[in-house]
Amino acid sequence: MQVPSNWSELVARCGTPLVLCDVAFVRAQCRRLRAAFDFCDLFYSVKANYSPALVRVMVSEGLGVDAVSPNEVELALRCGAAPERIVYVENNMSDAEMAFAVERGVRLVVGSLSRLKKYAARCPGARVGVRINADVGGAHHARAFTAGPQSKFGIHFTQIPEALAIAAAAQVGIDLVQQHIGSGWLDEAIFAEAADIILRQAARFPDLETVDFGGGFGVAYKDGDHPLDIERMGASLRARVAAFQVELGREFKFALEPGRFLAAESTALLATVQDKKIGVDGRTFLGLDTGFNHLMRPALYNSPHEIRNLSRPDAQLAVYDICGNICESTDFFARAREIPVAEEGDVLAIMNYGAYGAAMGSAYNLRAPAAEVFVDGDIQVLTRRRASLEDLLATFIG
Ligand code: LLP
Repeated sequence: MQVPSNWSELVARCGTPLVLCDVAFVRAQCRRLRAAFDFCDLFYSVKANYSPALVRVMVSEGLGVDAVSPNEVELALRCGAAPERIVYVENNMSDAEMAFAVERGVRLVVGSLSRLKKYAARCPGARVGVRINADVGGAHHARAFTAGPQSKFGIHFTQIPEALAIAAAAQVGIDLVQQHIGSGWLDEAIFAEAADIILRQAARFPDLETVDFGGGFGVAYKDGDHPLDIERMGASLRARVAAFQVELGREFKFALEPGRFLAAESTALLATVQDKKIGVDGRTFLGLDTGFNHLMRPALYNSPHEIRNLSRPDAQLAVYDICGNICESTDFFARAREIPVAEEGDVLAIMNYGAYGAAMGSAYNLRAPAAEVFVDGDIQVLTRRRASLEDLLATFIG
């Protein structure tokens, strides 16, 4: 993304911490992925970033929405997605949530035999999707891996005969087979291998219409990470699905559910250095006016988000432990990180904030979510105001 050249005006107007989203970047990512995978329907995985302004950009780019809760479904509808362009990939949903999905007419993908049975009992003769766990996975961190027997996601491929029997007994057609191998992988070979495996499994479903390869497309977070060659991946998947269709003698639809790839690099979190502490063992702490309440990826996965010093981009480099203002020892964005010399009052930008940044935020320590500005060329719009204490306490009674 481009941090806008007038960032200091925005900071003067809105304060920090401040989220800045480069809309042109989002649109470019959508178009690049659509062009590379023009044989696939794209569903933006809204869990990555549910800012309504962003969801509307995704919908206006022709994407559907991948949702995992009724509120995500409702948000997608409000942002203009048609029900049939919403895929609800459930995980441990309740009966009331299933009823909601059915009433709203969204496409449901169930992730357990038990849920499939409950769906078949409620909707005999209807169509549904299933998520399959085929034991092959990839992710930026073991904590974002979703395959194998220890994973809570999906119906294990060895249980496909049971799934087919449950569906057949209620004349339910399993028309969509989905797989999501994990999040943030940068290994193209894993995706190709997983695609072959899920295609092989999908061939076992007589009512198959759509194969959904899930999301997980990673982005580079640190030097040395190789960004995915999306065009090469598209060509490789195109060849695989073509062979699959020839083998089965008919045409199918194909889908993807990217989240991070579309949103991550579009957005930065701006924060101000509030405290510079020279440690007794030689380290220097930079304490920011943000914390893991706004970005928990470093604390949760050790994720190495790039940090820039916007106030002094050309200063000589110095090494810092960069931390937040939350009362927890894990509240660090980086240890021993080299950035241009920073002083109290400088504004730093934490990059790749657009996916699983604000979306995983909390009000811990009663700190409010950051304000958010969308930058679209010359237009700069406040898309989220800073929450007040009243906002944070609104649901408490008494
Ligand atoms: N489809 C399904 C069924 C998913 O569970 C997910 C992500 C996606 C698609 C989108 O994955 P993406 O393309 O964004 O990688 N909090 C973690 C990531 C958790 C992802 C959860 N599921 C992180 O910050 O890395």
